[in-house]
Amino acid sequence: VIKMTDLDLNGKTVLIREDLNVPFDDAQNITSTVRVDSAIPTIKAALEKGAAVLVMSHLGRPTEGEFEQVYSLSPVVAYLNEQLDAPVRLASDYLDGVEAKAGEVVVLENVRFNVGEKADDEALSKKLAALCDVFVMDAFGTAHRAQASTHGVAKFAPVACAGPLLVQELDALGKALGNPERPVVAIVGGSKVSSKLTVLDAFSKIVDTLVVGGGISNTFVASAGNEVGNSLYEADLIPEAQRLRDTTEVVFATDVRTTRDGFSDWSHDSKTETKAASEVQADEEIIDYGPESAARVAEIVKNAKTVIWNGPCGVFEFDAFSKGTETVAKAIAESQAFTIAGGGDTLAAIDKWDLADKISYVSTGGGAFLEFVEGKELPAVKILQERAKA
Ligand code: 3PG
Repeated sequence: VIKMTDLDLNGKTVLIREDLNVPFDDAQNITSTVRVDSAIPTIKAALEKGAAVLVMSHLGRPTEGEFEQVYSLSPVVAYLNEQLDAPVRLASDYLDGVEAKAGEVVVLENVRFNVGEKADDEALSKKLAALCDVFVMDAFGTAHRAQASTHGVAKFAPVACAGPLLVQELDALGKALGNPERPVVAIVGGSKVSSKLTVLDAFSKIVDTLVVGGGISNTFVASAGNEVGNSLYEADLIPEAQRLRDTTEVVFATDVRTTRDGFSDWSHDSKTETKAASEVQADEEIIDYGPESAARVAEIVKNAKTVIWNGPCGVFEFDAFSKGTETVAKAIAESQAFTIAGGGDTLAAIDKWDLADKISYVSTGGGAFLEFVEGKELPAVKILQERAKA
């Protein structure tokens, strides 16, 4: 692909697609700025090269053609204004042209308000392309979507290139998955085997050890013939769990933390019990790895050369259920291995224990990270490759 860093942008209008899809709390405060912070070096680099900078992104999943304030990028623009020396403003009507001077940043309002965005509509893509001299795809987190602002625009822009963040993400993931230093350990947590089955399959072919956490681990605990009581698990996926165990070294919880509190009573000081996975009672629910299992994973991570982490070991949002995830997360942070982490929950766990600086690479991708791991082609990257060849 053509790289933004190789282009002369002086006096050019540059349209940068970022993934500024950040999480908010109920009071509309941004709860994690990781994605914006990761985009800032790209914006600064374009400004330093003398460009007028247009930035576009989606936020959430609004209905096309309907403006809704909760999906506005205005809080992101306010944050960018604090972080950048250049003036930053929000443009709501931009499809027929937008004025931007060199040294200025204009953020285009949520691209998913535009009719035709999701369908990768050609007319919309051409309008976006007409806004710029150079289109920069930098939104790794949205590179798995073939939409007008990620794919269509790249087809029609005068020049289409990859931004530094996108390049960095692809390099880091390529390093972890392409020809990794062994032993390679993947840690896949989350609630369901079914939603991560293709990822587990892909990892089973690459890694030396596959560690599963959360509800995924529970299905493996059940596959070993244990009672899992009220735990989240998928009985119909036990054969898949068995198949994975037959072909790969899979580590799952052999001791667990359980609770008898119902979901609506969960709190930071919910009462838990620690026991062997074989001793779970019918009225209990597994909510975390037990200490022995967590220590075992920590030891595996310590001896690894490459660690890929996606998903927690338990319901870490509640302190009472977070010890297993904490032990594993800290082991990853302390490991000498090349460590790479991605996914929304994983980023939240990294934030909870403030470990971002200790992970070799924290990806901004959620779905894109998983699709890359699965070996799928990212359409927004593919079009850049095609344009570079043409
Ligand atoms: C994400 O949060 O994974 C990306 O921003 C993509 O969002 P989407 O799943 O709504 O396309």
